[in-house]
Amino acid sequence: MKDYFNNKYPEISDLKVAAKKRMPKFAYDYLIGGCMEDISLKRNRQAIESVQLRSQLLKPFDGTDLSVELFGHKYAAPFGIAPVGLQGLMWPKAPEILAKTAKEMNIPYVLSTVSSASLETIAEISEGHAWFQLYNPTDASIRKDLLNRIKAAGYKVLVVTVDVPTFGYRPRDIKNGLAMPPKMNLTNIAQMLANPTWLYETALAGKPEMQTLKPYMPKNMPTDELAAFMNKTVMGRVDIEGLKPLRDTWDGPLIVKGLINELDVKAAIELGADAVVMSNHGGRQLDAGEAPVKPLQQVSQKYGDQIKIMMDSGLRSGTNIAGALASGADFTFLGRPFVYGVGALGNKGGYHTINALSLQLTQIMTQLGCPNVASLKEYLVRENGVNG
Ligand SMILES: Cc1cc2nc3c(=O)[nH]c(=O)nc-3n(C[C@H](O)[C@H](O)[C@H](O)COP(=O)(O)O)c2cc1C
Repeated sequence: MKDYFNNKYPEISDLKVAAKKRMPKFAYDYLIGGCMEDISLKRNRQAIESVQLRSQLLKPFDGTDLSVELFGHKYAAPFGIAPVGLQGLMWPKAPEILAKTAKEMNIPYVLSTVSSASLETIAEISEGHAWFQLYNPTDASIRKDLLNRIKAAGYKVLVVTVDVPTFGYRPRDIKNGLAMPPKMNLTNIAQMLANPTWLYETALAGKPEMQTLKPYMPKNMPTDELAAFMNKTVMGRVDIEGLKPLRDTWDGPLIVKGLINELDVKAAIELGADAVVMSNHGGRQLDAGEAPVKPLQQVSQKYGDQIKIMMDSGLRSGTNIAGALASGADFTFLGRPFVYGVGALGNKGGYHTINALSLQLTQIMTQLGCPNVASLKEYLVRENGVNG
């Protein structure tokens, strides 16, 4: 399975088309959507597509190496699987499938707090290799218990997401009445029946629920009250004061995800964070937002020697990953593409997606004459036209 590559889906957009045909509309809509008018979503794509790289061909070249060392572990490629909540709604057992794939392919898989799989299950499947993404609970007892469980399960890396001070305003989900587990209204039932493989796999997997958070939810809580419960109890706003107790308690690598402003990167360094993920949540939160690749060059020049800088939002190919790394990222994440992969190809989807992205990236780096990931910055065409 490790070498699995399906010639029918050379591009992420091919996987997206196939996934659309196999997922109920409410689940697909939740996955693809940005927020409000999808302005940030589109801007992410425009910004990454405008990055240009310049090859250097007349120097000796002895092949290229995609591996990257992070927190004492050598990963096979400079990209990982971003945390995506409710993954199991989009494709049954998606977290389990992707966590296993990531472990085998030696790239990071980040489990979302609002995943359909429990953190304990994913720790076991990934043999301790998965990372955990935390939405900081406002309730101190839940926070304490969750951190204890994360530690006890063997997670080594904690990613704290700070760009959800309030739920994104997402017109598609509002129209669909999205809920977890899905509401059994006529429209949703019709959408489920129209996707027999999804329905069959869901019947086998059991109805998707937020397993990690389930212990903290009142029993038999009506679906309608879930959003209010989450907003009040689990998804607290995280400012620097909110991060300090986490830094004090968590002795492993701590990553702050969802920053775009260099002042926040500076604050994360002062906090003692080990990395930041420059991200606008895939365009799902602030619709007037800047694409993270824009401030990346400046932030990496200023702070790149003090903290690891990672980036996500809008990456869809090896070309885009190379563009982000050349602009200053040490590492990248992709969210939707891996779910498209699993939606299109089930258990094989993660392998295919990783192999496709790795092949594309190897191509680009070979084309450039670039020997390794850290050197990619030398191939960026900067705004003044100079490279490196
Ligand atoms: C459907 C969906 C659910 C997401 N859920 C979470 C989440 O639970 N926690 C989190 O930190 N980020 C979440 N994100 C954001 C991703 O981690 C990541 O920042 C984003 O998907 C990157 O953009 P891309 O999808 O264009 O690659 C979610 C993104 C999507 C598309």
